[in-house]
Amino acid sequence: MKINSSKVLIIDFGSQYTQLIARKIRESGIYCEIYPFLSSIEKIKDFNPAAIILSGGPSSVYDKNAPSISDELFKIDVPFLGICYGMQITAYLFSGNVKPAKNREYGYSKLEITKKSELFDGCGDNNTVWMSHGDIIVSPPKDFIVTSKTENGNIASFENKEKKIYGLQFHPEVAHTLCGHKILNNFLFNIAEIKKNWELSDFIEDKIKEIKTEISSDDNAAICALSGGVDSTVAAVIVSKAIGKKLICIFVDNGLLRENEAKDVVKFYKENLSLNVKFVKAEKIFLSALKGVSDPEKKRKIIGKLFINIFEKEAEKIKNAKFLVQGTLYPDVIESVPVYGASSIIKSHHNVGGLPKKFNFKLIEPLRELFKDEVRRIGKKLDIPDAIIERQPFPGPGLAIRIIGEVTAVNLKMLRKADTIVSEEIKKNNLYNKLWQSFPVIIPVKTVGVMGDKRSYESLIAIRAVTSSDGMTADFAKLDYDVLRQISSRIISEVKGVNRVVYDISSKPPSTIEWE
Ligand code: XMP
Repeated sequence: MKINSSKVLIIDFGSQYTQLIARKIRESGIYCEIYPFLSSIEKIKDFNPAAIILSGGPSSVYDKNAPSISDELFKIDVPFLGICYGMQITAYLFSGNVKPAKNREYGYSKLEITKKSELFDGCGDNNTVWMSHGDIIVSPPKDFIVTSKTENGNIASFENKEKKIYGLQFHPEVAHTLCGHKILNNFLFNIAEIKKNWELSDFIEDKIKEIKTEISSDDNAAICALSGGVDSTVAAVIVSKAIGKKLICIFVDNGLLRENEAKDVVKFYKENLSLNVKFVKAEKIFLSALKGVSDPEKKRKIIGKLFINIFEKEAEKIKNAKFLVQGTLYPDVIESVPVYGASSIIKSHHNVGGLPKKFNFKLIEPLRELFKDEVRRIGKKLDIPDAIIERQPFPGPGLAIRIIGEVTAVNLKMLRKADTIVSEEIKKNNLYNKLWQSFPVIIPVKTVGVMGDKRSYESLIAIRAVTSSDGMTADFAKLDYDVLRQISSRIISEVKGVNRVVYDISSKPPSTIEWE
């Protein structure tokens, strides 16, 4: 029996790659969602998936409180693909022999395909795959056959064709696994026989229609907090296409933005995107609230709270505002229901602009099902220029979390100048779009230098530049020394009060992208 569905469900066991699996599936033109492993069978059945993927995760099946699922799950009549921990938990639940390995197998391995499998169709015999696992499967469950091994002779994949259950010990979703895309597509299109169903242009039209119906009355207005970033901009443009000037956008200048940013962005919104924008100048209020505060979390909370107060006051002035537009993305939705034990809150960050539910507004979140790269593609389809679409992410608390310690007008001025230099040099060298973020940070220490034969004792600036696909993990960018030299010498000669520049060479984890 073929179930009348074309959606894939990913059950999350806390792997850092879970979202990547989802993005890969959507890139293949198939809609999918992620549910935490604790979700009830009823909820999973209600989703009506055409296939289920069990993600990887950091645990061992033998851990106390190891994440697990009910065997009821496997009674749902759809194909299953367990990846890494997802394969181990499958083996464990079907009484295979899983053992903790002495050392975690991490990194590249050569895959040797030992039995023909539909999963590996078109893959060739020798493939490089990416592994990251602690447990190993010593023998597969009864009625499962092993289809490939790693170069260490460990089981790399197994399957039970009749039950339609497949397992991969390696990660097909990461680019390092050369045949990964093909393997996932073999599972989706050949084994699960799913047809393509996810097209972004249909999405835009459907959303506009949906919003038009929802905000149908002429008396109702919607409000939206714009930040200059891609998410709020794309959300606002979609809603304005649906309801025109009945959407009133509010841009709060908190004084923590980059050089000329507030004015430029608002001008752009009005002139190029024809948005109805109210500009609120609040620099002084923010700076005085931050006076004497150096704790990073306190700074974030002050900024978040003030923003809400100001927004609330402005919103009250708008007659008939019944709807609130937010640029919430799918990762925000998933992260707000973290997988137990797997994700923990590291910083109280994302969506500082996120508004409290006590607001008496009905939420409109047109991007709720989308990943960032999908939002960017939609932005392009909506003719929003690259200057906004390709912008590097900028944190809600702005430059305040790039000034370690107290935020003062003097530090802000220094940081803005340095930021302009970093940005100019990075763009000049065609690196801006290749980097997730690139920015300077002021560190509150002084070091000794020598300038024009005189001893100097001045501030220190660190440069942070990272590559990342989603901000969840990141690596420091291997910038060319000449680019770094140019940034450093320009900052030291053009930014008064700085005599030393250092480059941050840490990855996330264990560091984070921002310094606070
Ligand atoms: P971290 O520093 O946690 O940052 O590695 C990951 C990504 O999130 C951005 N970020 C924030 N965004 N409000 C935001 O809206 C915040 O408080 C915040 N803190 C960090 C950061 O710039 C990076 O892209």
